[in-house]
Amino acid sequence: MTLRLFIPTDAGALAVGAEEVAAAIRAAAARQKVALDIVRTGSRGLYWLEPMVEVETSAGRVAYGPVAPGEADSLVRAVCGNGAHPLRQGLTEQIPWLKRQTRLTFARCGVIDPRSLEDYCVHGGGKGLERALALGAAATVEEIVQSGLRGRGGAGFPTGIKWRTVAQTPAQQKYIVCNADEGDSGTFADRMIMEGDPFVLIEGMAIAGIAVGATKGYVYIRSEYPHAAATMEAAIAAARRGGLLGNRIAGSSFAFDVEVRVGAGAYVCGEETSLLDSLEGKRGVVRAKPPLPAHKGLFGQPTVVNNVLSLAAVPMIAEKGAAFYRDFGMGRSRGTMPIQLAGNVKYGGLFETAFGITLGELVDDVGGGTRSGRPVRAVQVGGPLGAYFPRALFDTPFDYEAFAAREGLIGHGGIVVFDDSVDMAKQARFAMEFCAVESCGKCTPCRVGSTRGMEVIDRIIRGENRAANMTLLEDLCHTLKFGSLCALGGFTPYPVMSALTHFPEDFRVPPRLQAAE
Ligand SMILES: Cc1cc2nc3c(=O)[nH]c(=O)nc-3n(C[C@H](O)[C@H](O)[C@H](O)COP(=O)(O)O)c2cc1C
Ligand code: SF4
Repeated sequence: MTLRLFIPTDAGALAVGAEEVAAAIRAAAARQKVALDIVRTGSRGLYWLEPMVEVETSAGRVAYGPVAPGEADSLVRAVCGNGAHPLRQGLTEQIPWLKRQTRLTFARCGVIDPRSLEDYCVHGGGKGLERALALGAAATVEEIVQSGLRGRGGAGFPTGIKWRTVAQTPAQQKYIVCNADEGDSGTFADRMIMEGDPFVLIEGMAIAGIAVGATKGYVYIRSEYPHAAATMEAAIAAARRGGLLGNRIAGSSFAFDVEVRVGAGAYVCGEETSLLDSLEGKRGVVRAKPPLPAHKGLFGQPTVVNNVLSLAAVPMIAEKGAAFYRDFGMGRSRGTMPIQLAGNVKYGGLFETAFGITLGELVDDVGGGTRSGRPVRAVQVGGPLGAYFPRALFDTPFDYEAFAAREGLIGHGGIVVFDDSVDMAKQARFAMEFCAVESCGKCTPCRVGSTRGMEVIDRIIRGENRAANMTLLEDLCHTLKFGSLCALGGFTPYPVMSALTHFPEDFRVPPRLQAAE
């Protein structure tokens, strides 16, 4: 009998020793004369259990984790026997953290070999493309419109409407650009898809190409993601060999091909227009809109720019229909959201669920509170430009409009948890500092205002002219919010003002300085 194990090659698992564990298990199996087959997968996203090793059994895959190389011998012995081991987590699919999710986009992540097109197809891959080809371009666009899918990169713009605009813009050449810059703090869902189920992204891009009349796609990946870039390259090569990409995709009359481009590393290159500049070989600087990328995008041609998660949801919508997807969620937030729990959290990882779950459920229940064991004081949702929410706002449902109504944003779905040792004045200063460092420099409120913002917060922290500096800070935030060309400057006030509004005590002048004021 051959022992069949699954061990992730996901960067998060590798960072905690998955490669060493795989090597130790191979050596242990050789010592124990056990025939072994190790399939390298993506991660299931239960990061506190990584490196997680799964074993194929007649009842399904059984998980063990977190495994250290020193446990390889006992693990091999256990799985060849009755399976009992202190690290045994039971059937993977029955682990409550995984079982309570609705995995639509992430259905195959951690399950399949990400470099095998065959494995992808065995697990249902390719059916969306098949149906899109049967539907034709216009009906495919309509299917995406009707699904209610909104862009998962941050702005939440309806994906189908964007596609329709590109489809209706006449041009010789159109492009599909996948935004895999994933710069938001506490986010890793794009990376997980590229490392765990790259074909779903390729299929989503091919469907987008058919729908809008584009023959060429680019995946723009941040340089900090070398594993994702390598897996994408391997998957693209396999997709070309297997006919998923090429001159006649899936035997049709449509041509579509994809290339990977690696960015040089700038948060602002995630903004779609500076991403396009970067793709064109220029320095990433934000372009004024109009024209929209949908009209004049890459090399001046009509371009769909979509986030990895938006495109990865497409094959499932194309296959199962708009109504299937739309049935999940609440209000105008339809479908599921792959939420990423990070920072000081006990159970960090990827939690895909329908919109509508509350922030409190996510942080306390799913996340299990802080890793440090201290009380949760604040969470930042939606990346470095997202607001800090206190416990008093934990009843907010995960929904674009509900967060906006409370001066927040869900962005790319990242939640960063902080315990009660956090200094919110420092966090507010950090938001200004981040903006100053990452600003593309094109407009004055952001380029100059962020540096002035740091200085003003420093003065508040030092207790200098507190009242006057508070007014100045609010004024500055107003200028940034309404005077910036893009959301980097425009949203920096969110973390700053939310820290000030919800945690005013951290901005209070120490009593000694108050006396001097
Ligand atoms: C400063 C800044 C950084 C951004 N970073 C990203 C990013 O890393 N990934 C992403 O998909 N979208 C990012 N966006 C949003 C993109 O501009 C754009 O809205 C998105 O790629 C469109 O795809 P979607 O509609 O599928 O979300 C960023 C926006 C701004 C202003
Ligand atoms: S807001 Fe900042 S990043 Fe955006 S265009 Fe202006 S200077 Fe550039």
